[in-house]
Amino acid sequence: MEAASSSSNRCSYSYDDYRETTDWLLSHTEQRPKVAIICGSGLGGLGDLLDNKTVFPYKDIPRFPTSTVPGHEGQLVFGSLRGRQCVCMQGRFHFYEGYNIHTVTYPVRVFFLLGVETLIVTNAAGGVNGSFNVGDIMLIKDHINMPGFAGQNPLCGHNDERFGVRFPCMSDAYDRDLIALAKHTAEEQGCGTFLQQGVYCMLAGPTFETIAECRLLQLLGADAVGMSTVPEVVVARHCGMRVLGLSLITNKVVTDYASVEKANHEEVLETTRRRTQDLQRLVSHLIAKI
Ligand code: HPA
Repeated sequence: MEAASSSSNRCSYSYDDYRETTDWLLSHTEQRPKVAIICGSGLGGLGDLLDNKTVFPYKDIPRFPTSTVPGHEGQLVFGSLRGRQCVCMQGRFHFYEGYNIHTVTYPVRVFFLLGVETLIVTNAAGGVNGSFNVGDIMLIKDHINMPGFAGQNPLCGHNDERFGVRFPCMSDAYDRDLIALAKHTAEEQGCGTFLQQGVYCMLAGPTFETIAECRLLQLLGADAVGMSTVPEVVVARHCGMRVLGLSLITNKVVTDYASVEKANHEEVLETTRRRTQDLQRLVSHLIAKI
């Protein structure tokens, strides 16, 4: 008999589930995107910029996870950005919302079966590196999978070789050529002065970090902290997609007991509003070069 703890993080989806979702999408759009974009909170405006859009609310897509939050239903947008066919997730699934880790990453396997080769992920993150400023854009060069340390890795359970190998390498998770291209594009687009590179650490959330936790993250070598992205990247790398990750530094984490600053969602949203255009410009020009 299997232990309760191992069955609780076992993937409940079969290859046929992902296949059914994919085949439905393929039969409802002529578009065959090679690039997928997962938009972080408040960064979904990129999807609105696509030309020749075909929009599928998540609730209409067979087997696709749906949002439990009224007004945040989410949709998959197919279309082209500067002449390149893309598919864009407007609304992602967060672990802290109560989705299991396999549900959070369900769309990534669908992207793979659709023929997507490159995944671009954006997120809002707290600045752990003391030299970062609010409003900086950080190219993710590596990650720390903190939920993975606690057994919440989306690849736990049976490995289906049609997606990838049992023990995938993660030392090359973030594509170096894409990072170089993003750097170059950022400079061209006038974003060079607020561009950073660093290590993103995912925590499960939904609590913001304590002061002691932020100090620990600094000791661990994290430059930014957030509540998303890593599970999707792990699944994308498992099936061989190239990945580019961008964190918008929406706030500085608090590491000083004398500080009266408090991490809060309003500041996150305010910074996102301020920088969303820059991020969209950077990503759309970058996609044109991929
Ligand atoms: N911590 C965790 N997640 C976040 C933060 C933060 O400070 N800012 C935006 N997302």
